[in-house]
Amino acid sequence: MISQFNIPATLIIGAGASRELVTQLARIGARRVLLVTDAFMESSGLAGTLVREVERAGIAVALFAGVQADPTDKNVHDGLLVYRSGNCDAVAALGGGSSIDAAKAIAVMTANAEPLSQYQGYHKIPRAGAPLVVIPTTAGTGSEVTKVAVITDTSRNVKMMMLDRHLLPLAALIDYELTLTMPPPLTAHVGVDTLTHGIEAYVSRKATALTDPLALTCVRLVSEHIETAWREPVNRAAREGMMLAATLGGMAFANSSVALVHGMSRPIGAVFHVPHGLSNAMLLPAVTRFSLSGAPERYATVARTMRLCAPDASSEGAGTSLVEGLAQLNARLKVPRLRDCPGVGRARFEAAVDKMAADALASGSPQNNPVVPTADQIVRLYAEAW
Ligand SMILES: [Fe+2]
Repeated sequence: MISQFNIPATLIIGAGASRELVTQLARIGARRVLLVTDAFMESSGLAGTLVREVERAGIAVALFAGVQADPTDKNVHDGLLVYRSGNCDAVAALGGGSSIDAAKAIAVMTANAEPLSQYQGYHKIPRAGAPLVVIPTTAGTGSEVTKVAVITDTSRNVKMMMLDRHLLPLAALIDYELTLTMPPPLTAHVGVDTLTHGIEAYVSRKATALTDPLALTCVRLVSEHIETAWREPVNRAAREGMMLAATLGGMAFANSSVALVHGMSRPIGAVFHVPHGLSNAMLLPAVTRFSLSGAPERYATVARTMRLCAPDASSEGAGTSLVEGLAQLNARLKVPRLRDCPGVGRARFEAAVDKMAADALASGSPQNNPVVPTADQIVRLYAEAW
C-alpha cells in the first residue's frame, strides 16, 4: 500500500515565531496581503499590531475580520471580495481553526470557480490558490499544518469537509505565546480536540508508519499538559507542550484521517453550534467504547501512552481503562453533556438526530473507524452522548 504525506513547506515553531510574518511574506514576494481574522482578534489589538508590522515593511494589508465561529461559505465569499477589491496577491490568517479554515478557502477560491460546495470531499480542488501564511492563536485544531478545511454550506446547513493539498498553507508560524491568554474552557475544548486528533489518527484504518509516531507523541503531550494549561493559563511549559501536540496531531490526522468522533461531531456543530472541540469531547468516551473491538491493541497502546493503565495490562483491561480515563478527563475539565448546552432540548435533539446520523455517514469519516457503524448505531451513540 502506498500513502501520501503533505505538510506546509515551512514550519517555524517557538516563542515569538509569529514575528516571522514579515520575513515569510517577503520571501514569497507578496506586495498586498489579505489578513483574515475575527472580530475578537481585531478588538484585542493583536491584528492591528501585525498589520502595522507588515505595512512598515512596505507590504500593503487589506483586513478581513468577518470570520465567525463555524465559518460559512458567506464568510469565504465576503473575504474573497476584500481580496479582489484590494488587488491582493497573498493571504495571511490569524486566529483559531475558524479563521485559518476560512483563509484556506478564500486562498483557493482566488483561483477556482464558485460555488465552494463543489469542492466538498477529497482532492476536488483543481488549481492552487494564493500563497497562504498562517498564525494559529489556539492549540488547537491543527489547521495550521493540514490540507483540510471545514466550512458550513449555509444552503444545506452542512459542515463541508474539504481535503486537498491545495488547501495547505505555505508556511505556519506556531507561537505558543499567543495561547497564554486562552481562557480555561477554550483550553479544554481545543485541547480535547487535539487529543481526539491523536487518537483517531492512530486507530484510523488509514494510519501509516509516518503518522503513527506523530499521533502517539500528540497523545502523550496532551495527557501531560492539558490539565496544567487549563488550571494555569500562563504556564509556559504547558502551553508549549499543547502547541506542539496540536501541531503533531494536525500533521498526523491530515495524513491518516479522523474517524467516527469527528464524523459525528461536525453535525452537532452544524445543528446546535456547539464548539468543535466540545462536541468531540462529549463523544469521545462513548465512541471509544464502541470502537475498541476493531483495534484493541491500538487502543491499548493509547491507554499506555496516557498512563491510564499498568504497562503490562491486557489489551482488554487497557481499553476499559481508556474509556474510563477519557470520561474522567471530561469531568475534571468540566466538559458538559450535550443536553446541558444552550438550545439542545430533547425535542430538538430527537427531531435532528436522524439527519445528523446521515450527514455523519456521508462525510466519509466513519468509514475510517476501526468499527464502521450503521446509521442506527450512530443514532444510539448520539443518544448516549446526549
Ligand atoms: Fe478536530
